[in-house]
Amino acid sequence: MARHLITSAIPYINGIKHLGNLVGSQLPADLFARYQRARGHEVLFLCATDEHGTPAELAAAKAGKPVADYCAEMHAVQAEIARGFRLSFDHFGRSSSPQNHALTQHFAGRLAEAGLIREVVEKQVYSVKDGRFLPDRYIEGTCPNCGYDKARGDQCENCTKQLDPTDLIDARSAISGATELEVRDTKHLYLRQSALKDQLDTWIDSKTDWPVLTTSIAKKWLHDGEGLRDRGITRDLDWGIPVRKGDADWPGMEDKVFYVWFDAPIEYIACAGEWAEANGLSEEDWQRWWRMDKGADDVRYTQFMGKDNVPFHTLSFPATLIGSGEPWKMVDHLKSFNYLNYDGGQFSTSQGRGIFMDQALEILPADYWRWWLLSHAPESSDSEFTWENFQSAVNKDLADVLGNFISRITKFCSSKFGEVVPGGAGYGEPETAAISEIETRLKRYEAQMEAMEVRKSAQELRAIWVCGNEYLQTVAPWTTFKTDPEAAAAQTRLGLNMAHLFAVLSAPFLPDASQKILASLNVDKPIWPDDPTTFLDRLGPGHTFAVPEVLFAKISDEDREAWQERFSGQRTG
Ligand code: MF3
Ligand code: ZN
Repeated sequence: MARHLITSAIPYINGIKHLGNLVGSQLPADLFARYQRARGHEVLFLCATDEHGTPAELAAAKAGKPVADYCAEMHAVQAEIARGFRLSFDHFGRSSSPQNHALTQHFAGRLAEAGLIREVVEKQVYSVKDGRFLPDRYIEGTCPNCGYDKARGDQCENCTKQLDPTDLIDARSAISGATELEVRDTKHLYLRQSALKDQLDTWIDSKTDWPVLTTSIAKKWLHDGEGLRDRGITRDLDWGIPVRKGDADWPGMEDKVFYVWFDAPIEYIACAGEWAEANGLSEEDWQRWWRMDKGADDVRYTQFMGKDNVPFHTLSFPATLIGSGEPWKMVDHLKSFNYLNYDGGQFSTSQGRGIFMDQALEILPADYWRWWLLSHAPESSDSEFTWENFQSAVNKDLADVLGNFISRITKFCSSKFGEVVPGGAGYGEPETAAISEIETRLKRYEAQMEAMEVRKSAQELRAIWVCGNEYLQTVAPWTTFKTDPEAAAAQTRLGLNMAHLFAVLSAPFLPDASQKILASLNVDKPIWPDDPTTFLDRLGPGHTFAVPEVLFAKISDEDREAWQERFSGQRTG
């Protein structure tokens, strides 16, 4: 039995995520976690909300709520939606947890002791009336380029020009509208990532099995100079983790918090602490996943994320871990994704374009979305959601292939032999041939799943379902029955056992459908079909079952058109 630590990039707290976000990290991570559990391995699958930073503060202000309340509410909303999609996190934590506060401050203290932090004095806009420094995007004014009067200090939304706050004409505070703005000195902490360059380089070189997408991004950042510049890890904000050196004050840093990208990945570790606390476990119980000196040496750690997150996971976070001089578990495999586009454009949270997770579940249950998204995961390139494509995948793969097989075999058996697995003859030549094809494909499916080749896994799984349909089509038990009921019984028995096999294999993709099939087949403790030949004999003569309800409803053209219309504009609520 192996031990798998699995994390998904932690979604920002502000707002509900769209399907592009889902397929880029949480969903494939769930697929992998479910697969490894099904193979009998020990899995710790963690995710959390990323709660600090300016976007969280702004969203709370917009909602008219104290930021802590806003985050608590949105965490509950995201957790509920995650359950809706059957994301099987062992814990869904919060980067604002006490555990993350303590751990983030601990890391900062260790880095300071190691001489890896330097203090830098910068100039920043200060609002006298608000009594605080303003992050660039908290400053509004008129764009010097296009004249738009609500341009932000970092960028003009109207003409997209990148700006400095001092470029703005008639600059004012976005919080209060105050115009009394001054440029003042402010002190910040910088992590000396550049001092860790060689260690990071060696570490990345040791990752020979990483996908090209991952290593090329990491190496580019490492050698371009840009990426490994020393990085500010503090901000002048109220909301966040107060800057301290472990348990001690950090003189001169009293009103500052850590930068969100410093504390967010540390939450991967803190989340294990939250998991332990929530389950009445001890310190040792979570440390055996994260500390090489406390038993994590046999853990295999896999991270899932969108490609824009790769530099933070291959450079910044490893710099924090290596720089601490402590034996933390580092990532073994990093699976990154390209982007999913929506119907000829991009999914966009800020523009409300595309399908958001809550809306998706209002229309159809999780399995439908899970299947389409995973079987079209943007792996080697960006991919695109279209309603036609979604309709066709659901109707063909789920309804016509898997759903039809299950319903056909259970109904046929029930009508001729009753709701019980029939005895009859032993398996003959067509049975052996079908089993052997399934065996070949099963090995390929396992290899693809192990390699986290999401699309290829989906294709292989579908091909296994097709084997079932083709077998039934070839032997046609309904015809055989007329002349040779004994042989028809054996064919039906194999069909029912195939249904069992499909349910087990499909569980990582389609947890609900799998559960329904298993329940109707009266299987309560599914095991993995390590040996398909014996597995396809498990439901022996006399084993009872019930015909399941229809597993997948087809999407009609009217539904498709209505949804296409409904999701063609911007999300307003
Ligand atoms: N919230 C970030 C995003 O959605 C991801 C943070 S991942 C972590 O892009 F490593 F910082 F945790
Ligand atoms: Zn402009």
